[in-house]
Amino acid sequence: MTSILHTTRRTQGNGAYRAADIGRQVAVYGWVQAYRHHGGVVFVDVRDRTGFVQIRCESDRAAVHALALSLRPEWVVAATGKVISRGANVNPKIPTGEVEVEVDGLEVLSEAQTPPFEIKDGVHANDDLRLQYRYLDLRRPELNRNFAARSQVTQLTRKYFIDNGFLELETPILTKSTPEGARDYLVPSRIHPGQFYALPQSPQQFKQLFMMAGMDRYMQICRCFRDEDLRADRQPEFTQLDLELSFATREELYELMEGYVAFVWKQFLGVEVPLPLRRMTYAEAMDNYGCDKPDLRFGLPLTDLTETLRGQTEFRPFVAALEAGGLVKALAIADGAAFSRKDLDVTFPQEAAAHGAKGVAWARIAAAGEWSGPVAKSLSPELRAALQDRLGAAEGALVLFVADKPAVANAALARLRLVVGERLNLLDKNRWAFLWVTDFPMFEYDEAEGRWAAMHHPFTSPRPDHLERLERDPGAVLAQAYDLVLNGTELGGGSIRIHQSDVQAKVFRLLGLSDDQIRAKFGFFVDALQYGTPPHGGIAFGLDRMMMLLVGADSLRDVIAFPKTARATCLMSEAPCTVEPKQLAELHIAAAN
Ligand code: AMO
Ligand code: AMP
Repeated sequence: MTSILHTTRRTQGNGAYRAADIGRQVAVYGWVQAYRHHGGVVFVDVRDRTGFVQIRCESDRAAVHALALSLRPEWVVAATGKVISRGANVNPKIPTGEVEVEVDGLEVLSEAQTPPFEIKDGVHANDDLRLQYRYLDLRRPELNRNFAARSQVTQLTRKYFIDNGFLELETPILTKSTPEGARDYLVPSRIHPGQFYALPQSPQQFKQLFMMAGMDRYMQICRCFRDEDLRADRQPEFTQLDLELSFATREELYELMEGYVAFVWKQFLGVEVPLPLRRMTYAEAMDNYGCDKPDLRFGLPLTDLTETLRGQTEFRPFVAALEAGGLVKALAIADGAAFSRKDLDVTFPQEAAAHGAKGVAWARIAAAGEWSGPVAKSLSPELRAALQDRLGAAEGALVLFVADKPAVANAALARLRLVVGERLNLLDKNRWAFLWVTDFPMFEYDEAEGRWAAMHHPFTSPRPDHLERLERDPGAVLAQAYDLVLNGTELGGGSIRIHQSDVQAKVFRLLGLSDDQIRAKFGFFVDALQYGTPPHGGIAFGLDRMMMLLVGADSLRDVIAFPKTARATCLMSEAPCTVEPKQLAELHIAAAN
């Protein structure tokens, strides 16, 4: 018997069948999604990437009917037949619900074991099981759709940048360390005992070398590798949309990237993104939201109460923080009634403690001047009035205070702001709050190491008017660095780069690198800077994060086909794994005992 596969090509995607197809002779291929035995008829839903269509196997075709009775979930089948109307049984809830295929030929192409979980949307299977059988999980329509979406967005991305004069270029994976603030994944060299390649944390130096090489505008959709602690929005191996352009200012870059997001949002979601996008300096973001990636889908700004409170209250936690040079900041929530005593006594302090805060003081405002809560008795009527005024807090409000070092108070309140926003249903997945955060500090002081560290990476250019501060006051130097934030997620980050070798040398030295270390780590790069470097700058977008937001997923795992667990393992392939002693010997590595 010749197989349907070799005689009749698939007519169309299974999800595409409509009333207009009635009367056509067709061939359907796919997986058995579900079946129902109904008197003499077997109905089977046959699924592929595009959806599913119902096929109808009647008992008057004995062979077809007998075979249909034996089908089980996830078997792969081919069927030929005629598209007919479902008549009185039209199902308006499914796209193909008007029609079915009356089968005249049926074939099993492949049988399947009973899958460890049901292949359909909304399954509540255990996460580890889903990752172990990732290929089955990916078969579920909602995940399957995410990857079709991802393919569409990468195509739109290429189109936009190629149309804007970019070249799509590749950079090496086996390379030398690129500092982006994470640990490197290392690959031992067989040919050079004791030497290692590093997998790129990003193609940063290579893309800058492309500018020196006269490529003018570079783009790549590239894989980056970072050995860091993982979270829902962090994978050890992730994809960047990486860009670099010559002779461009920050303004030109903002315009280009705004055009890009507007293009993708329009083409993919049909959403108009109003341009230009909002901007905020790093200092403003920290002051008003306590973090450098504020979610601006909702308000709830933080208020610094340090000066209002100084010398005016005996409340111990406030006094202690102020004496130690810290501050007191607060979050005022108009609808205080939405939060229970348990929130105040358990949830909020726990969330704040995760960011190092020693506690969260609170006050409820029943009416002007009528306050309750642990701080209330330590605040005079005049002080209450002054605080209410500064906070813009009215009757019914709840005020959360954190007193601590600025970094701790900010981090704790930024977290509480999100917890509150979520509880008040302010995190609408269909709202798009884009924000450029600009003017990041060049350096942050690394207390543990006792030296300055680059806040972005060491190739970032200081603002030209801050160059003279480099040696005098590194902490006050602002960088020409920017992040694009969307709904509280850092979508991308970049900067205008240093293109003068003397400035680059100064920055390396400030970061505590000796001349020998600079040579060893970045010799090729420092040399290259001396052969005619155009002013240049760029940015990298986390493509996975962008997809996560575009499809409304909660985790990067839903948009990365074969992701790793929080412990950086692949449960399907069981990587990482041990290797043969012989392989280790070739790599000059002693086997662990
Ligand atoms: P940066 O380190 O900010 O910049 O990375 C750019 C963007 O990549 C995404 N991203 C990640 N996504 C998933 N998992 C991770 N572990 C992860 N780490 C980063 C984020 C981030 O905004 N070379 C510079 C860019 C430049 O200066 O042009 C760089 O890599 O969305
Ligand atoms: P205590 O004095 O420890 O009984 O704390 C009184 C209240 O102050 C409790 O609600 C604590 O959660 C809160 N609190 C303690 N430390 C801080 C702090 N650093 N900032 C804000 N509130 C605090």
